[in-house]
Amino acid sequence: MHTELIDARTQLDAGVQLGGRLIRNGELVAFPTETVYGLGANGLDGAAVNRIFEAKSRPNDNPLILHIAKKGDARKYWDTVPENASRLMDEFWPGPLSLVYTKTDIVPNEVTANGDTVALRMPDNKTALALIRAAGVPIAAPSANVSGRPSPTTAEHVMADLGGIIPLIIDGGPSLSGVESTVLYAGSRPVLLRPGAVTKSMIESIVGPIKLHDSLLKPFSNTEGVSSPGMKHKHYAPNAEVILVSGSNANKRAISIYDEYEACGKRCIILTTSENSRLYGGRDYVIIGVKNDVKSLCRNLYSLLREYGNSADALIFECVEPEEHGLAYMNRLLRAANFRVES
Ligand code: TXA
Ligand code: MG
Repeated sequence: MHTELIDARTQLDAGVQLGGRLIRNGELVAFPTETVYGLGANGLDGAAVNRIFEAKSRPNDNPLILHIAKKGDARKYWDTVPENASRLMDEFWPGPLSLVYTKTDIVPNEVTANGDTVALRMPDNKTALALIRAAGVPIAAPSANVSGRPSPTTAEHVMADLGGIIPLIIDGGPSLSGVESTVLYAGSRPVLLRPGAVTKSMIESIVGPIKLHDSLLKPFSNTEGVSSPGMKHKHYAPNAEVILVSGSNANKRAISIYDEYEACGKRCIILTTSENSRLYGGRDYVIIGVKNDVKSLCRNLYSLLREYGNSADALIFECVEPEEHGLAYMNRLLRAANFRVES
């Protein structure tokens, strides 16, 4: 299949009109959002949604997020709009927050992996919103990568994974945030299921204390009742071994691992901050962002995993405090490293 690439920065209307038509016809369209690129299908058409799972080789027990273009549509897909969800929508939509609540009958089981809840999100990206409006239906969309690869933050990443498999990629430039949306169960006792750019304290300032799911910084376990099945699957793992270093000796530890590997003829790259890079003189390093701006680390993580994940034997990353934006960063990094942390 030929994959058409349309740049929404110069051809918004053409991209969105063609995209809307394809979605209505049951086909798949990749599109930009403020978090990562999504692979969209008509969220009310179970057969179209199944194509997403095929294209990505996605395990079919992992539910999808429905993307909507106006807050009022939430009541069509949730049986009621709970008070907490309503407040959070007012504060953070459009934005990188997916809210989970009990679904209505019109949401196909293909979207929810047969579960009785559905995740809804209104993305903060004008191309995404225009595409949803043009399609005239909610768009079910996971990240537009082949399962197990890092989420795509540029149209080129999508092309590398899904070129030849889908008819259209709409290019909106690099994603601003670079990690996927926060996922929150939004009932009367909210549970954070996946951390993202809408942080724990931002949510708590609106709805009071929330629970963190057990698996945010650990391998998946299902002790909480509500869970995000996506967290149990292997994620974001490049071919290179990913090793995390933490603690007050993190930089020394990085150097000793690096030197050990090099002595065995293995190629290492240290992923570091502009502040810490001077500690690694003479060794191969790449600057991922700025130390006191964890958002800059989040923004570049996936594209660096793609760029270097196959060109070295090991990638060594420095841990950050798992708080606020650091919680999202460590959640992704720990999974990429298969939870290997050296200190
Ligand atoms: O930022 C994002 O959320 C991107 C863009 C494209 O919007 N999408 C995305 O989708 O990351 P995906 O499918 O890669 O991740 C969705 C996550 C998964 O971990 C899934 O398990 C969880 O949301 N999820 C979806 N529906 C759920 C539900 N009903 N209950 C619990 N978790 C759910
Ligand atoms: Mg994904």
